[in-house]
Amino acid sequence: MYPIRLGAVEDFEIARELLLRTNFTDRLFVDGAYVDEATLRQHVSAPEIDALDRLGLIVQEQGKTWSPVQLHPVDGVYTVFDRWKTPDGKQLEGREDIVYPSIVANTRLFLDLLPDSPCDSFLDLCSGTGVAALIAASKYAVSAYAYDIAPRSTHFAEFARRLNGLSNVTTGTGDLYEPADGVTFDRVVAHPPYVPVLESKWIFFDGGDDGERVTRRIVEGLPRYLRPGGSLYCLAMASDRADQPLEQRIREWLGAEHREFDIAVVVRRVLEPEEFALKTGRDAKKWKEVFDAHHITALPYAMMMVQRKATGRLPFTVRRQSGPQTSRADHEWLLDWETRIASDATAILEQRPSAAPGCDLRVLNRITDGDWEPVEYLLSIDQPFRMEMKIDPWIAYLLTRCDGTKTVSQLFDELKSDGVILGETPQADFAQVVNTLGSGGFLSFPAAG
Ligand SMILES: C[S@@+](CC[C@H](N)C(=O)[O-])C[C@H]1O[C@@H](n2cnc3c(N)ncnc32)[C@H](O)[C@@H]1O
Repeated sequence: MYPIRLGAVEDFEIARELLLRTNFTDRLFVDGAYVDEATLRQHVSAPEIDALDRLGLIVQEQGKTWSPVQLHPVDGVYTVFDRWKTPDGKQLEGREDIVYPSIVANTRLFLDLLPDSPCDSFLDLCSGTGVAALIAASKYAVSAYAYDIAPRSTHFAEFARRLNGLSNVTTGTGDLYEPADGVTFDRVVAHPPYVPVLESKWIFFDGGDDGERVTRRIVEGLPRYLRPGGSLYCLAMASDRADQPLEQRIREWLGAEHREFDIAVVVRRVLEPEEFALKTGRDAKKWKEVFDAHHITALPYAMMMVQRKATGRLPFTVRRQSGPQTSRADHEWLLDWETRIASDATAILEQRPSAAPGCDLRVLNRITDGDWEPVEYLLSIDQPFRMEMKIDPWIAYLLTRCDGTKTVSQLFDELKSDGVILGETPQADFAQVVNTLGSGGFLSFPAAG
């Protein structure tokens, strides 16, 4: 039924050692090329050829050997997926349940944005090759789980688990959390299908008519499956709707228990619904109707992070636009920062802020009574996120005073005695402004990390 077989432990060991021993195997498994028998025998021993054959990793016919699958290392683990081309380069028609390649750019982005801090129970939902679970289990998770609705994907992931010799990965076939059977998780990651489609063609692709069919249910399952202190990282395209940005809709999906969760959405890029419709060509009119019916105003491609609070503070909801350099560390910083200020908004008072080096100020001047008058102050920055913020002039002045030597309390007193802010301004209001500037990345706080 499947090209590769869950064979004997010894055969997996032989295959693993062979892959480690020689790069020659790249010709078969990475390049996906034909190898003639004489060349194969020069590089691979007879017992190794037999083991590969028993596992289904090679097919030998008419003096030529080729692999019916692709086998690629990714971040130190072997992953196995379906071929898109024959060994002589002809495009294959992708089957409905094709095992999604672990080496494409969006899987690379997904993996790069996942935190690599230790965790106890890691779930890779919509796992495909199981690449995220395999990496987590080999590097930082005590136990990892890889669930996929397509039995073919789970079979390939289980094959890779054995090939990597990882005993702390459990693969499961089923609709989202279905295989969990009472297990809960402290990290859930997902790179689900998210493309809006009118008709289903590939399981890896089909996000229903609004693209969110799978993503929504991933979030809906969190109250049941995510442990306190745990987080979801889901990379997908989703939608903003009239009066309902994506982050608010995620809150709704969480249902009655939504106050237990924080939400941070980092948008990589945004597609206008019209752009999407145009790309589909002849279905453009139909798509306009679908998007109008759902009141969809934009299609953000975003990392959606949802964390379950470990303590009883108020939840936060934030959205950021990623800049050219935004990385996993910036995502973690954002969650950390927002968690800190949601826990204690005045803790900032003893910190010593510095104005961020990449921070720009644009001032719009307008002729008034024969002279230029500044009418608008706009702060902007690209790192950690791309932000723009209209500010009052006193904030521009505040930034010039933030050089890392004075605490926020001292700055508050200084600005008061300089007459820049009113004497009756409460300290908590000032702390709130500083928190907002910190949150946008306009100020940095060495002590806060
Ligand atoms: C875009 S691929 C991502 C695969 C892998 N996580 C990666 O990043 O390379 C989406 C995967 O979701 C799986 N899938 C689709 N619907 C699902 C569902 N309801 N429950 C579990 N898996 C599902 C598909 O079979 C496919 O393997």
